Amino acid sequence: MAAGIQIVLKRSLAAAALLAVAACSPAPTGVSYNKDVQPILAKNCSECHAAGQKGLIASGLDTTSHQNLMKGGKFGPLVKPGDALSSALNMLVEGRVHSSIQMPHGREKLPPKDIETLKVWVSEGAKNN
Ligand code: HEC
Repeated sequence: MAAGIQIVLKRSLAAAALLAVAACSPAPTGVSYNKDVQPILAKNCSECHAAGQKGLIASGLDTTSHQNLMKGGKFGPLVKPGDALSSALNMLVEGRVHSSIQMPHGREKLPPKDIETLKVWVSEGAKNN
């Protein structure tokens, strides 16, 4: 199953590039991992992406700390600092993938504000700030 995800993600790169051109709205800046990003992950992701939970078991991704998040999943990094466009984390929460692997898994999409916060954080270098 996980190998299939990698293929879907690669295919969606071209579509993602087109979307980025269309979505040039002014973005917030100065996003903090500790203040802004971690609360979003704790609320929406870490229930599954933590030790012993199904998201971590299936994908290898642990969203409970900056260090673990940056390690990525079974197939390597899911966050590319400075490149929200091709970061799997952003693709999945933005729905730039097949709906069966959109995150949070099997749930409503995150509010647009949270999606934007994750995007700006990655674009600004995915720092532990
Ligand atoms: C209800 C459980 C659940 C929640 C909540 C959840 N995930 Fe997942 N996640 C999974 C499962 C299970 C997988 C494995 C792939 C699959 O089965 O679709 C996965 C896979 C992933 C992957 C793909 C890893 C890879 O190797 O390609 C990413 C990235 C991801 N999740 C990010 C998130 C983020 C970010 C959130 C919060 C916004 C989140 N997930 C919330 C269960 C969950």
